[in-house]
Amino acid sequence: MNYPYQIKSIEEYQEHYKQSIEQPEKFWAEIANHFVWKKKWENVLSWDFKTPSVKWFEGGKLNITENCLDRHLAKNADVPAILWESNNPKEDNLSLTYQELYDKVNQFANVLKNNGVQKGDRVCIYMGMIPELAIATLACARIGAIHSVIFGGFSAQAIADRLEDAQSEFIITCDGAFRGPKDIPLKNVVDDALIRNQTVKKVIVYLRTHTPVSMLKGRDVWWSDEMDKVVEQGQQYCEPEAMDAEDILFILYTSGSTGKPKGVVHTTAGYMVWTNYTFVNVFQYQPGQVHFCTADIGWITGHSYIVYGPLSAGATTLMFEGIPTWPDAGRFWEIVQKYKVDILYTAPTAIRSLMGFGLDTINDKDLSSLKVLGSVGEPINEEAWHWYNKHIGKENCPVVDTWWQTETGGIMISNLANVTPGIPSYATLPLPGVQPCLVDDSGNEIQGNDVSGNLCIKFPWPGMIRTTYGDHERCRQTYFSVYDNKYFTGDGCYRDETGNYRITGRVDDVLNVSGHRIGTAEVENAINMHTGVIESAVVGYPHDIKGQGIYAYVIFDNTHGDAELTKKDIIQTVSRVIGPIAKPDKIQFVPGLPKTRSGKIMRRILRKIAEGDTSNLGDTSTLLDPSLVDVIKEGAF
Ligand code: PRX
Repeated sequence: MNYPYQIKSIEEYQEHYKQSIEQPEKFWAEIANHFVWKKKWENVLSWDFKTPSVKWFEGGKLNITENCLDRHLAKNADVPAILWESNNPKEDNLSLTYQELYDKVNQFANVLKNNGVQKGDRVCIYMGMIPELAIATLACARIGAIHSVIFGGFSAQAIADRLEDAQSEFIITCDGAFRGPKDIPLKNVVDDALIRNQTVKKVIVYLRTHTPVSMLKGRDVWWSDEMDKVVEQGQQYCEPEAMDAEDILFILYTSGSTGKPKGVVHTTAGYMVWTNYTFVNVFQYQPGQVHFCTADIGWITGHSYIVYGPLSAGATTLMFEGIPTWPDAGRFWEIVQKYKVDILYTAPTAIRSLMGFGLDTINDKDLSSLKVLGSVGEPINEEAWHWYNKHIGKENCPVVDTWWQTETGGIMISNLANVTPGIPSYATLPLPGVQPCLVDDSGNEIQGNDVSGNLCIKFPWPGMIRTTYGDHERCRQTYFSVYDNKYFTGDGCYRDETGNYRITGRVDDVLNVSGHRIGTAEVENAINMHTGVIESAVVGYPHDIKGQGIYAYVIFDNTHGDAELTKKDIIQTVSRVIGPIAKPDKIQFVPGLPKTRSGKIMRRILRKIAEGDTSNLGDTSTLLDPSLVDVIKEGAF
């Protein structure tokens, strides 16, 4: 496959950027023409950020899987689509060509139909990182069902909440998942999630770990039995459903600053065009290259840059089931050597944690196949950037620092490998179609360079969020009402003298722990469920490896029992309610929380104490009880 819209020089970038701003409809129509449509669109774009309402390629009909699979068969049927590396380095690995992936997706799409799944139904997918996870998502897309993938590290309660919110009737899961030395009993977790559930009718279970499971008659079926039936009955082909451009492709839950996670909705055509365009341009993918994105498909990075971006481009995408430090810290490098990986896309957390293991596990590997390195999920500090560039890229590979979000669908601000220059710790320049702006707290746009502000986007791009599932008003309030007529990202940002962007981190109550988004309110709600807890406040603090750690101030009912045991118990509670990723790193018992007279917790003070910066706590005179601050300071870690 060739990519006529792949930008080749800095001049071309500037020219394309200009066109995308001056004539966005013409610009995107030309790119969209390179995809397979069942019916061309009538209108490229209509939008109104007030409502909000954004529609791309309206009137168009297509199926994303025809673009990810069918269209590659004529010339590239034998090209590997998915390379899969098992958790266990000694286990046989798997390679699925485009023909093989196409066959499996078609068969599994028929399994879904045979089990009653129809267009528009929500299907929850809770699996480990095995090829069947990609097959399941694509099979949903083939029949027009809406997938909602849940990261395998989330708890039963988190699954229950998401099932309920999406009113899902179907779940696809595994008996268990291998992650490093652990074997996670996914089906058991699903069973717990279903205890009070009223909607789920079918659970399809893929056998991966041979973990004992109980199968409920009439509800639970085995993946392999269902696939066998389809093959026996000759149901090899599944006609791809004709989807409207704006039909929902998937829901993906993500944390915000308030309440429960929200279901970010992405639609079919815009998301497809955006993930493909950004994949081809940021990484400068060339046919035949191996693209290794180390994210989990349970996060947006996996959706966009393991599944839809690469496959729509006919690329070879590498999926890894395990973790970077098992059986040793050389695992990523071993994979790079084994598969001759060209593009490595990972998170600063992984880089920082691997930095700590020294160079022995790197220097004995051949990393010469690498051509492009990518970073995503959190700000990359300069030290990690230089280490990545020097020891992994051997100062020979551009590092693309890609800024984007679950809501943006794909990369928004990034250098383009070997086309536009990278700057350590800068995401650098917006992609064509992206119109960023910085806004002050009163909502005024900050003009000029060498300025900081709240990062907003003032014009629609094809891959953007359309709504939050089942609650459009929440989408409006969260993203489109903070600043007039702009999408608000929740991030702070600096624009330097040359117009390059540097993301400085969240400006709301959202934490970014190891590149995972976690709302402080969510963690507080979980902590407060513990019977020994009266009240709590959670803030982030700088953490050498995770980027941010979770610091919890807890008012503890000391009639309840032993303090140390209670701390352990609180951690367990959070793990049960959300999942291990949200476990507090530090818990400090406090007699009270610093509140204003109107009862608002002054998080600014708690943040400073957690950061260990107590020299200037600012104005504390509005506090109900200013003396509390000294007590908290004394007990801090
Ligand atoms: O704060 C930004 C940070 O991650 C947030 C989005 O998180 P999520 O929706 O989980 O998506 C992560 C993967 C795209 C952003 O609001 N973030 C993401 N990439 C970067 C980043 N911060 C700085 N630099 C980045 N490259």
